[in-house]
Amino acid sequence: MNSASVRGSWGSRIGFIFAVAGSAVGLANIWRFPYLVGKHGGAAFIFVYILSLLLIGFPVFIAEILIGRATQTSPSGAFEKLGRSKIWSWPGKMTVLTGFIVSSFYSAVAGWIFGYFIEAVKGNLSSFASTEAVALHHTSLMQNPLWGVSFHFFFILICSTVLYLGVRGGIERWNKFLMPLLFVVLILLVLKGLTLPNAQDGLRFLFSPDWSLLTPAVLLTALGQAFFTLSVGQGTMVTYGSYLSKEENIVKSCVPILLMDTFVSIIAAMVIFTIAFSAGVEPSSGPALLFHTLPWVLSQIPGGYLMSVLFFLIVVLAALTSEISAMEPTIAYLIDEKGWNRHLAVWACGIGAFLLGIPSALSYSLLKNTTFFGLPFVDFIESICGHILIPAGGFFALILLLGRWGVWNALSELKVGSHEFFKRYPWILSYFWFCFKVSAPILMAIIFLNSLLMFF
Ligand code: PFF
Repeated sequence: MNSASVRGSWGSRIGFIFAVAGSAVGLANIWRFPYLVGKHGGAAFIFVYILSLLLIGFPVFIAEILIGRATQTSPSGAFEKLGRSKIWSWPGKMTVLTGFIVSSFYSAVAGWIFGYFIEAVKGNLSSFASTEAVALHHTSLMQNPLWGVSFHFFFILICSTVLYLGVRGGIERWNKFLMPLLFVVLILLVLKGLTLPNAQDGLRFLFSPDWSLLTPAVLLTALGQAFFTLSVGQGTMVTYGSYLSKEENIVKSCVPILLMDTFVSIIAAMVIFTIAFSAGVEPSSGPALLFHTLPWVLSQIPGGYLMSVLFFLIVVLAALTSEISAMEPTIAYLIDEKGWNRHLAVWACGIGAFLLGIPSALSYSLLKNTTFFGLPFVDFIESICGHILIPAGGFFALILLLGRWGVWNALSELKVGSHEFFKRYPWILSYFWFCFKVSAPILMAIIFLNSLLMFF
């Protein structure tokens, strides 16, 4: 059943921009990007990452928004409509399921960050006497099953409350408030970081390119990062695009989103590396960067308390707006395809994501001795999503566009609401034509082959 009359829609262009930017800017920007840059050659990594964004990430992102806007329904119905066959609803359903699975483990991880934010407020993250004390504190929190599960619960509860209020009254309104707040705090932090002693060393570490570290595996990491950061391959952009009006100039609204997303990644890396180098600490990679390096350094420098609170606040905000967008495709699916009302759909999705997320939240406590293919549960499920489900979602969106809908039809949809704009900048159409036909399929094939080789 397609209950078009009860479907949500964006109230303004700025609302759409902040909602989509809220989805894109998340843990992958503030947590993952900085350590990837630090580990894989600084500016050399940034260069291939930006190429990946331009050649595949952004075009697939636009393709998904177009699919959503053209059909004005959730991914399952959208794929079926453009694929002109019931069979095509299945890849659409798969993307919804992927978003749902992502929302479960993403919330578990965000729950830990939320817990760290509370620790920061309590002053527990800026008063360590030794690095051993930092590690001990981290272990004692992570090994407490109740700590992880309760913060996972609170996190889902906050997201569900926003989602309960609807597309305009909840998602749009809250993103319009939370995203500017995130930007302001991030700028304050980077200004503070730049004035710390040895800040230049941090910037040098970050921005001097080491081309020798660019292996094929690093190129694939950059491609994966470009995909995940733009929230493609999991129904989110099709769903958010389906709330967009036909009058909207898609390119004009989406370029600022790409810029904001990249800006946050780079500024977050500057914040982390200026802070780390100010105490002469060689930044570690992975989760240890956030949970070990930062609390230790912030215990050493004046103003560490406020910085720890603000830093974990922005990570929580970024995760919150992303989690909301990961849950929305399931809610839209239940409304559009099953005829449920929004409130019931939010309840079902919230409870489901909470339950499915419990094993992730327990990965380093009750389930710490249980591994899946040698990985803790949360890493295993993230790996399945990152290496199989998300690339598959992007792959199907591209095949749908190339094989069933047609590139020219997609480009015509892109022109809807923007005829004057494309008369002025016709090369933008050529850029998308090239990406849809050439660069995205080639890079997608490479991503896929790599995933297959990894698992089989
Ligand atoms: N784009 C988010 C990030 O950068 O962390 C991740 C994400 C959000 C993935 C929403 C999927 C999703 F539906």
